[in-house]
Amino acid sequence: MAGFSINGVSKIYDGLTPTETLSNINLTIKDGEFLSILGPSGCGKSTLLEILAGLQLPTRGEVLFGGKKLQGPDKKRGVVFQDPSLYPWRTIFQNVELGLEIRGADKAERKAAVQKYMDMVGLRGFEQKYPHQLSGGMKQRAGLARALANHPEVLLMDEPFGAVDHLTRLQLQDDLLQIWEAERKTVVFVTHDVSEAVFLGDRVVLLSPRPGRINSIFHVPQKRPRRRDDIELLKIQNDIYAAIHDVKTQEDLEFVI
Ligand SMILES: Nc1ncnc2c1ncn2[C@@H]1O[C@H](COP(=O)(O)OP(=O)(O)O)[C@@H](O)[C@H]1O
Ligand SMILES: [Mg+2]
Repeated sequence: MAGFSINGVSKIYDGLTPTETLSNINLTIKDGEFLSILGPSGCGKSTLLEILAGLQLPTRGEVLFGGKKLQGPDKKRGVVFQDPSLYPWRTIFQNVELGLEIRGADKAERKAAVQKYMDMVGLRGFEQKYPHQLSGGMKQRAGLARALANHPEVLLMDEPFGAVDHLTRLQLQDDLLQIWEAERKTVVFVTHDVSEAVFLGDRVVLLSPRPGRINSIFHVPQKRPRRRDDIELLKIQNDIYAAIHDVKTQEDLEFVI
């Protein structure tokens, strides 16, 4: 069971002026759900995702994963960051097989997994290329294939399409949804883009700015495949904009429309 139970999680970063970044987050993420986490820059989205990955510990509260207290990183939870950080001296094939190599998987298993997921993300034929030969969108695809090749139960994605051009971004969103439908992994997708959060998610969790708290949760019941011009989706986007405008500390907001 690849669901999370986030119970009273707060995070305070130590320093000269300790800052509370997350405050009392309570949230259940269901197995197989596609959950969007939306909020302005600096509200603690990456911190929350790192806590779910096990890369950071909460200051207060706890996170259960599959019913067990989360203690540290685990290959069951794959992470995809905005910068895919591919090794420039390795081919795309070699980058994608990295996790399997570290685990000591044999050559045949590595080859089968790399081929499967490179096909799935649309990178067939680019196996022997190096990262500098790929566009930004293709590098993100490679980062996604690398995460998938480890057979994680959960994908934790931190603004993965933030650095690619708009039309490529829409294509990546469509392709990610197709992969999600095929693989049915739990996905936690962090973004500061309202339309992206709504188009992708089963639910959208809106965080308020500093310290990050759950402002509200929006359900997106629309069936897939979805259309971006679906009036019901646009209504949900509008409800989210209304909630954002209601937040008192408006000057902190930096949403991309
Ligand atoms: N490792 C860290 N040490 C100290 N402060 C941090 C650290 N990581 C993030 N912060 C602070 O926590 C706040 C939230 O950061 P972050 O989780 O990256 O937010 P977001 O991803 O929503 O932009 C920011 O004010 C940031 O400066
Ligand atoms: Mg961030």
